[in-house]
Amino acid sequence: MKTHHIISALFLTLSAPLYAQSPTTRPESSGIPQLQVKARDAFISGLMKKMTLDEKIGQLNLVSVGPDNPKEKIMADIRAGKVGGVFNTVTKPDIRRMQDQVQFSRLKIPPFYAYDVVHGQRTVFPISLGLASSWDMNTVALSAHISAEEAAADGLNMTFSPMVDITRDPRWGRVSEGFGEDTFLTSRMAYVTVKAYQGDDASGPESVMANVKHYALYGAVEGGREYNTVDMSLSRMFNDYMPPYKAAIDAGADGVMVALNSVNGVPATSNAWLLKDVLRNQWNFKGLTVSDHGAIGGLVKHGVAENDRQAAAMALKAGVDMDMADDMYGKYLKGLLKDGLVSQQDIDRAVRDVLTAKWDMGLFADPYRHLGPASTDPVDTNAESRLHRNEAREVARTSLVLLKNDNHTLPLQKKGTLALIGPLADSQRDMMGSWSAAGVAKQSVTVLKGMQDALGDKATLLYVRGSNITNDKNIYDFLNSYDKAITNDPRTPQQMIDEAVKTADKADVVVAVVGESQGMSSEASSRTEIDIPQAQIDLLKALKATGKPLVLVLMNGRPLTLSWENDISNAMLETWYSGTEGGHAIADVLFGDYNPSGKLPMTFPRAVGQIPIYNSMLNTGRPFNPQKPDKYTSRYFDIPNGPLFPFGYGLSYTDFSVSNVSLSSTTLSKTGEIRASVTVKNTGKVAGATTVQLYIRDVTASISRPVKELKGFEKIDLQPGEEKRVTFTLREKDLRFFDNQIKWASEPGKFNVFIGLDSVNVKENSFQLK
Ligand code: BGC
Repeated sequence: MKTHHIISALFLTLSAPLYAQSPTTRPESSGIPQLQVKARDAFISGLMKKMTLDEKIGQLNLVSVGPDNPKEKIMADIRAGKVGGVFNTVTKPDIRRMQDQVQFSRLKIPPFYAYDVVHGQRTVFPISLGLASSWDMNTVALSAHISAEEAAADGLNMTFSPMVDITRDPRWGRVSEGFGEDTFLTSRMAYVTVKAYQGDDASGPESVMANVKHYALYGAVEGGREYNTVDMSLSRMFNDYMPPYKAAIDAGADGVMVALNSVNGVPATSNAWLLKDVLRNQWNFKGLTVSDHGAIGGLVKHGVAENDRQAAAMALKAGVDMDMADDMYGKYLKGLLKDGLVSQQDIDRAVRDVLTAKWDMGLFADPYRHLGPASTDPVDTNAESRLHRNEAREVARTSLVLLKNDNHTLPLQKKGTLALIGPLADSQRDMMGSWSAAGVAKQSVTVLKGMQDALGDKATLLYVRGSNITNDKNIYDFLNSYDKAITNDPRTPQQMIDEAVKTADKADVVVAVVGESQGMSSEASSRTEIDIPQAQIDLLKALKATGKPLVLVLMNGRPLTLSWENDISNAMLETWYSGTEGGHAIADVLFGDYNPSGKLPMTFPRAVGQIPIYNSMLNTGRPFNPQKPDKYTSRYFDIPNGPLFPFGYGLSYTDFSVSNVSLSSTTLSKTGEIRASVTVKNTGKVAGATTVQLYIRDVTASISRPVKELKGFEKIDLQPGEEKRVTFTLREKDLRFFDNQIKWASEPGKFNVFIGLDSVNVKENSFQLK
């Protein structure tokens, strides 16, 4: 109840512009009133006067608990005033033990405690790509708010999230962590997430400070290869890739994590243009910047610093406040200052940012904020009672995308015999996805458990594994290289398939849960083929040969190439990694207890060779026209140009009709507005929700503009036979873009308006901007 209250309050704040592309003034950090800002700044100035150089440098040190840096060592460093913040310590008792050391330090400056709370803390929600599939701001706000509440209840006060890197390359494993390919959708997600994490006040009892990441352009790594180079025109950068970071900052994000990649040859970590000119000067960011893991040392490998010492100087001078996990500042700043290679102002500026963040988190007022006395610690950190299962199920249901449903194969009936087959059908670890924070795999509900609970004794459910994730030893070894992520059944592939076929033969319908194990879609998990591994394809071939209706439940963290699967299956449900309550949510959809409404936040290509393929592409000078095919046009001759499943696509158990687009006027003036409306009707037999999407095209401009650019969306619920009028309002500022001189302006002329329930099947109209 309490949570829902907060969500509606949150939502009210959204009537303000969701993100602006123009340089705007950010409210003072964390929405702190001006008087308090003065008091804060005076307090910090006073404190900094008392600090020694070593203590200042200590504040810039962000340390991770790990084998090289055990807790005892960190505690000693805290006592010595050498630690600014700690991450990867995630329980109240552990954090309190660290915090208790602060009283033995000279100035008693508390560290902050951070963690990668990306899609949940104890309760795990769907991966961010799944959250984006909901196109539902309440859902996203609810999951982010609960994540913050649970993180705060574990004593944490900062998260390295949201990750808002736009990506149009599904080969990159980290697509699973972001909100997909689209600038507008991701910017909305970024804004809402930050608001939900920080609330009105980053020091609130259920707030954690957000660090938007990875600034900038990490999602555009060449070839989708992890940590690779990014090289991009400025207009594309500012039109497509930058707005989500800016949206997070406009929402009040107090932290920014700097990306590992280079941008046009200059690593983000040493990129003063990114960190000062754009972030601070243009966007008016006043918060804290942190390097990514070991990124300062990485400057030597990038080939821009000769050695670590020079790297430390470059990062600080470029504007990186805190050094994550490579102690470059700790080792070198003192000497660099002595030799005049960094200035006292460089150090003081960074220290001030750290201390300001701590003040905003309320740590000077109460260093035990979020911790409280030991008597308040949960008896069992992983207790069931600490989970938000109902909300997790509610959120997970909205993230599921129905890709195919021939002849109403779904929903399934709760009777007869059902065969559930596949290496992901009963995998608790995979259900959680990567970056599942402090989530405990044993607490997650698999598809098997979800279906068992849904069926009770109404039907017979047969389950066999059918295949391993992969039979490729190299991939198996890779997936298990850091932790035991997958386990293989020792039987031969044929033995497993034979058993699966026998099981399928006994059933009325086969549900196959296939895809990627979570480790295949995460950091450092780039792929050149984005298909379902061969071991599972062999299984599917055998299942198809049984002639039984075949439903594919897909678990994966990136768009996959699914042309063959689309041909051979009767229905396909995209479930991503749907978190703690994933299995229940999936069963709700499979049996029709919940009507799916998710829409893809990323284009699904037909083949890897089409990548990058995305909705907001440019037209080219020789666009291919399928109605009038011509050889000398922009196309592949071996497969169609278009995707298998476009951006914004997703089916329902009901049908919807969309009327023509009516416009309130045929012209739009610089100060006016134009309303674009459609009537959407539920023409089917069951209630359902869908997302109405508005795209525009600036037909002629000084630079080529996208053939379709998302500019609005609204999720609506409709009873059978019910219709609703959906109206979007466009103003001149919605039509602005950055030209090649990085001037943000609209240009008069014709604009097409498209409205539909995905990005391809749309109704069209047009107006003139005067
Ligand atoms: C990742 C960041 C993450 C950090 C701390 C890095 O490897 O790139 O996204 O926040 O580790 O865990």
